[in-house]
Amino acid sequence: MKIEAGMCAYVSGAGSGIGRGIALALARRGVRVGVCDIKLGDAQDTVRQIEALGGSALAVQVDVSDSASVEQAVAAIEQAYGAIAIGCNNAGIAMHGVPLHEISASDWDWVIGVNLRGVIHGIRALVPRMLQAGRPAHIVNTASIGGFQVNPNFLTGAYSMTKYAVVALSEGLHNELQGSPIGVSILAPAAVDTQIHLSERSRPERLGGPTVRAQNHFMGDLIRGGMTPEAVGERVAHGIEADELYIFTHPETQHWLDRRHAAITAAFDEARRLAQDQSA
Ligand SMILES: NC(=O)c1ccc[n+]([C@@H]2O[C@H](COP(=O)([O-])OP(=O)(O)OC[C@H]3O[C@@H](n4cnc5c(N)ncnc54)[C@H](O)[C@@H]3O)[C@@H](O)[C@H]2O)c1
Repeated sequence: MKIEAGMCAYVSGAGSGIGRGIALALARRGVRVGVCDIKLGDAQDTVRQIEALGGSALAVQVDVSDSASVEQAVAAIEQAYGAIAIGCNNAGIAMHGVPLHEISASDWDWVIGVNLRGVIHGIRALVPRMLQAGRPAHIVNTASIGGFQVNPNFLTGAYSMTKYAVVALSEGLHNELQGSPIGVSILAPAAVDTQIHLSERSRPERLGGPTVRAQNHFMGDLIRGGMTPEAVGERVAHGIEADELYIFTHPETQHWLDRRHAAITAAFDEARRLAQDQSA
């Protein structure tokens, strides 16, 4: 889809990191951005940066894990700017460094609530409106390279589980919207220099409120010096315009996916061998 000045966007998690990078990239193209975040002050900082570029933006407080909150945010943006043409379900949190069987029930609720339900709620609020408008529109769901393989080193199974689900959800949405004017992209970065290792600062009050989750903090060293959020934002703008289903940012990580795909292919080889033995 061609991004045109005057279009309107919803970007969640836009008070920091990749969401802010996407919001700035869209604003540079004249898009009016609904800058949505659970941390209103951070969303307002992003709005100030957009206004400094000469753009228009509106800060909206949202908890993406809460369907009513997402619906209200989308309605508020629509009221201010009109029909939303670009919907970026980007807010997400880390849940690293703890074995799966030791993650608390409340941490499961949090990671699934934000990373997966947040995207579901965004789709439910945005897509019916886009279909109703009948004009070109685009959904970008932020997954991760961790949505395509589980890193064996950092106890990221719970995070990856939510991101695999975002990939499946987005592929399903892409299939269902064929023939409509709505495109779908899956953003799948590796290390980006953001505040994701401090995700606990944004834990919703109804899921326990801000806390300290030291298990995530090692991530800070891994992502420092990674790709900048601004570069990811520009990459997303390109992906929307090129109507890419998969927006990858780190070509050097492809071998991680190749390793997983090779294991799957080998498993099929074994299934084929056994099937041939049985029919012999
Ligand atoms: N940084 C990386 O290396 C990396 C890599 C792959 C994928 N991602 C994904 O990118 C997305 C953005 O993460 P980031 O790295 O920019 O982290 P970040 O912590 O810098 O930004 C995330 C933003 O989301 C907001 N947020 C958290 N919970 C929310 C909620 N319930 N409702 C609304 N807003 C909420 C936070 O307040 C924050 O402003 C996430 O989905 C993350 O999983 C990040």
